[in-house]
Amino acid sequence: MQDILDRIERDIQPYFGMGEVANYIPELAKVNPKQFAMSVATIDGEVFSCGDHSKKFSIQSISKVFVLTMAMELLQDELWNRVGREPSGTAFNSLVQLETEQGIPRNPFINAGALVTTDAINQRFTDPYNEILNFVRGLCQNPEIKFDDEVAQSEFQNSERNTALAYFMKSFGNIHSDPIKLLDIYFHHCSIAMNTEDLAKSFLFLANAGVNPLNGEEVISKLKAKRVNSLMLTSGLYDNVGDFAYRVGLPAKSGVGGGIVGVLPGEFSVAVWSPELNLSGNSLIGTKALELFTSYTEKSIF
Ligand code: DON
Repeated sequence: MQDILDRIERDIQPYFGMGEVANYIPELAKVNPKQFAMSVATIDGEVFSCGDHSKKFSIQSISKVFVLTMAMELLQDELWNRVGREPSGTAFNSLVQLETEQGIPRNPFINAGALVTTDAINQRFTDPYNEILNFVRGLCQNPEIKFDDEVAQSEFQNSERNTALAYFMKSFGNIHSDPIKLLDIYFHHCSIAMNTEDLAKSFLFLANAGVNPLNGEEVISKLKAKRVNSLMLTSGLYDNVGDFAYRVGLPAKSGVGGGIVGVLPGEFSVAVWSPELNLSGNSLIGTKALELFTSYTEKSIF
């Protein structure tokens, strides 16, 4: 495994410079584009890494998997009255379908869908910030995981589209919180800073039928773990999800910080980070690295 990761790190070098760092969040635009890290965590407790694997980055939309997992426990099947389970075929921050679909987002991984799952958490907890943080800390067994307040602040100052989404859905009765408070919580969970090792570990419960192999605790049922993985496969990479499935063949979730985490149920989770993005807002080198990984290891869900 270590040889394969080292080989991938060499093979991705020619791809630097082909994408662009996210620039609509000023704090993210400052990140050095020429960085790469990859970590594989197995359900047996092994971790393999290459590149800048201890460097923390902004997980952004990868946090939508954590809030979906929490919201599925809180709302059970009622959640699906408020958010769909279909790929959107549109950009992650698109408004176009919401008007005709009565404020019900297509899936929990587009921004509108994650605002709904975040709303469910805010409705249920007095301190939603710490509930989310502690959930993620527990998953990767790292109490040091924190929000990056500067990234959250930077996004809040440039949040016209997300603000529009929150108020628009509220007009349909699908947001119950104060939209400004909701956006603040959403920007905070998107700002969580993690390295690829922590991220790979934090997705192990999805590779292990809902049980966190790091402490033996059931995070969600086996059925719900299957469902989260299915949703990642169909919606985890936005309007790029078909191309990603074709090339990589793993359920996965991306973020505009340049991270992508994939899962092979029964075996491992794999996190990759490289800040330059393709046109859909997914890490260009991260996608390439995962494509090489499933090719070299001959391990994918297919
Ligand atoms: O709301 C946003 O636009 C960002 N906080 C998250 C978007 C994102 O990560 C999309 N992922 N590829």
